Amino acid sequence: MTLVRFLKEDGSLDREVVAAAGANLLDVAQANGQPLEGACEGSMACSTCHIIVDRDDFGRLPPASEEEDDLLDLAAHVSRTSRLACQITLTNELEQLTVRMPGGAYNLDR
Ligand code: FES
Repeated sequence: MTLVRFLKEDGSLDREVVAAAGANLLDVAQANGQPLEGACEGSMACSTCHIIVDRDDFGRLPPASEEEDDLLDLAAHVSRTSRLACQITLTNELEQLTVRMPGGAYNLDR
């Protein structure tokens, strides 16, 4: 299980959820009302699942592939701890993960 904290663009807490090991972060985010479009459904052909990972948690994730890094170069409001949510699989070892929605995220339901 991983405790996932979703922060709003301004850094305030939006939601805390417990997700099972093996779950994909984009799926968990979408199931919990986060404004991530995920246009290519995880096939690494867009960057609409861009999230900013908490600095402390970032180093505990497996590093991004070159392909992911290339896509992140095209995303808006990229930071040094940006990742694509669809490329993150939750694990028991992770225990907790805090991610923030980037500025300018396309908000589907608000
Ligand atoms: Fe398109 Fe993640 S959903 S790259």
